[in-house]
Amino acid sequence: MSFFGELYLRSTLPFLSEETTAKEVAYLARSFEELRVPGPVVDLGCGHGRHAARLNARGPLAGRVVGLELDPLSLQERLPGFAAVRADLRSLPFRTGSLAGAYAWYSSLFIFSDEEHVALLREVARCLKPGGRMVLHTVPYERLASQPEASFSTRLPDGSLLEEKSRFDAVRGRDEATRKLTRPDGRVLSGHYAIRYYPLADLTQLLEFTGFSLRWVHGGLEQEKPSGTSTDLVVGAELRHG
Ligand SMILES: C[S@@+](CC[C@H](N)C(=O)[O-])C[C@H]1O[C@@H](n2cnc3c(N)ncnc32)[C@H](O)[C@@H]1O
Repeated sequence: MSFFGELYLRSTLPFLSEETTAKEVAYLARSFEELRVPGPVVDLGCGHGRHAARLNARGPLAGRVVGLELDPLSLQERLPGFAAVRADLRSLPFRTGSLAGAYAWYSSLFIFSDEEHVALLREVARCLKPGGRMVLHTVPYERLASQPEASFSTRLPDGSLLEEKSRFDAVRGRDEATRKLTRPDGRVLSGHYAIRYYPLADLTQLLEFTGFSLRWVHGGLEQEKPSGTSTDLVVGAELRHG
């Protein structure tokens, strides 16, 4: 993992305010509030656990959240208060029909190939109990398409220099970026990442193809209707019967 790990953590955490995380946690708590299926809910690609720790502490998912993460540093530096397993998203270490729910924030499921996304979503479906729920957060395809090239350079609070260049290929629906972090001691961390952004119709089809029924689509954390200018795209889906 050249991008996820130290580079991702040191360059992303400074931008994740308490306020942002609190809003995301409130959205997730609300999404699972009416879930009547008992059992654990997994945070897929939990990172350092900013959602999992809070959701496991109180609210409808209290005591039920398990994190799943491949990066050892994220797990080592994670917030206290929730159990986590080190595993690959593409091969989930859960028994068939054992989970009440799953969620993935920040496009965490869409960092692989289209074929792998199909396999991965089928894996999530395999692990869910009947009536189990999945919530996925990403960014609308249209948002990337409207501004396909981006670059920035900024100084982080600890004095590191963060530089990033990205380009969205609207035909392939893939945003490819390189990120470089020059630490205050001169150490350089750099990596490349690609994220797949699906137009909503394609995402809906992907979910249905992999065994889910779409329950809702929101364009923001206040449950706004999605539009071409939405900042977020959050979908709620349930394991389809039969
Ligand atoms: C975009 S980050 C989101 C982290 C967290 N969900 C959040 O919102 O703060 C994606 C996470 O997925 C993890 N990840 C990347 N590839 C993975 C894989 N193959 N299996 C499990 N986790 C993976 C990364 O290490 C990273 O923590």
